[in-house]
Amino acid sequence: MKKITIAIDGFSSTGKSTLAKQLAKKLHYIYVDTGAMYRAVTLFAMRSGFIEEDKIDEDSLIKTLDDIDLKFVFNSNLGFAEMYLNGENVEKEIRTMSVSKNVSQISVIAAVREKLVAMQQAMGVDKGIVMDGRDIGTVVFPDAELKIFMTASPEKRAVRRYKELLDRGEDIVYADILENVQKRDHIDSNRAISPLKRAEDAIEFDNSDLGLEDQFQRMYEHSLRVI
Ligand code: C5P
Repeated sequence: MKKITIAIDGFSSTGKSTLAKQLAKKLHYIYVDTGAMYRAVTLFAMRSGFIEEDKIDEDSLIKTLDDIDLKFVFNSNLGFAEMYLNGENVEKEIRTMSVSKNVSQISVIAAVREKLVAMQQAMGVDKGIVMDGRDIGTVVFPDAELKIFMTASPEKRAVRRYKELLDRGEDIVYADILENVQKRDHIDSNRAISPLKRAEDAIEFDNSDLGLEDQFQRMYEHSLRVI
């Protein structure tokens, strides 16, 4: 079987990472969650005091970009890799609402995208990779053999996110989650650099009404056709 690159893009909380993880496991491929990388840079900026209210000190962040060391470390108990920021496991912290509220503003910064896209491309040189994000099929791997673009209604996605955060013990309100999902969609889709959009050759999955098992089966069948 030949090794390929699988790019999974789409709106937030469409279940991209759950499916991408499952697919990578089934194919014995590497899985990379690029959202975790943007989230870790956001956490770094927050901890460094570069984000006050809605204002971002872009210049200071850009000057310190070289101090940000990001690594995925595989956790064999969990069966997937966790995000490390300068040697610290930040997997839990990067998924909190406070990071979600700031991440899209950090993701518009060109220098941040350049750094992260270069790392992502390096991780994929040998193929055999499933990568999920917003610009994987359009910018990171425009030649990916299989591209999937996932959508679902904002309400379905907000419910999914709400349940996830509740399970993690966060004190949150559904309306805030829906607002965050819609705001991020807007910023991600309208930014000047690498906006979220479906690559022309991507297969669209609207999973508002499809169960996880059905979605996984469809995705797996698509990958077998290319491999
Ligand atoms: O996938 P996730 O929802 O964790 O991504 C968090 C944010 O990171 C997105 O809303 C988007 O602003 C940014 N992102 C991006 N490009 C990617 C992956 C994520 O701009 N490839």
